[in-house]
Amino acid sequence: MTAQLIDGKLIAQQVRDAVAVEVAKRTAAGKPKPGLATVLVGDRVDSATYVASKQKACQELGMDSFHNQLPGDATQEQVEALVKRLNADPKVNGILVQLPLPSHLNEERVLQLINIEKDVDGFSPINIGRLAQKGRDPLFVPCTPYGCIYLLEQAGVKIEGANAVVLGRSNIVGMPAALLLIGKNATVTVCHSRTRDLPGVVRQADILIAAIGKMEMVRGDWIKPGAAVIDVGINSKPDATRKSGYRLVGDVNFDEAKEVAGFITPVPGGVGPMTIAMLMKNTLRAAQIQQGE
Ligand code: GUN
Repeated sequence: MTAQLIDGKLIAQQVRDAVAVEVAKRTAAGKPKPGLATVLVGDRVDSATYVASKQKACQELGMDSFHNQLPGDATQEQVEALVKRLNADPKVNGILVQLPLPSHLNEERVLQLINIEKDVDGFSPINIGRLAQKGRDPLFVPCTPYGCIYLLEQAGVKIEGANAVVLGRSNIVGMPAALLLIGKNATVTVCHSRTRDLPGVVRQADILIAAIGKMEMVRGDWIKPGAAVIDVGINSKPDATRKSGYRLVGDVNFDEAKEVAGFITPVPGGVGPMTIAMLMKNTLRAAQIQQGE
């Protein structure tokens, strides 16, 4: 192995510890606990697991969490009424509507209803619009891309002037990651299913962010020697040697890439833990903003 491993679990714990210290200071000073409201519509197992982890993190860091569950056939009006109620609730500093919503719901209309000061996911059009504009700062940066950039910075990877390639253009990861990298003066290429000569484009990358959702798609010989590889993918790979019958792998073939890259995140234990850590950081920031700090 030539690459330096970027330990997301450790770095996420450091972020969480810093948030917990700040929350404890605030509560000791008589200020209310920061509170995060989660909204889950329907019963997708993966979404329910993510939401439960977010609630658990709140408890561990001394914050309040308020869970709101709606049935999978909830109407647009019901979801919007819930968001409006949470907007008006002073105990709720952050609102997280777990995505994807069931397909009969209009996600855009729900997200744009969230009060911008409570938009801890950073998905409202105003936050994304600010992220996309020069000289403007969003109130909140979407958690997974924020975690990716934080890992690069903690590892000491120089972003300014680097050729960065982002695989995937999702609203949740690829597109905001590309915007963040542009804001940090990288030269950014965004690749997707219609990109020609993907291996050739990836070979130019000093920084690669892989968020395409295809198991081990990026091969070792696609990686530029010394590159920093951030793997956002979480895919279940059948593995008869495991009790569960599977193991988690990323969008990058780790065993091959680690022999070529300069830095690499593992799966699990890379980007995954950072998403929740950054959500906690954003929720604390929401409380600070709402209390005029
Ligand atoms: N679904 C997958 N990732 C996320 C996320 O970061 N936030 C929300 N709200 N939904 C998601």
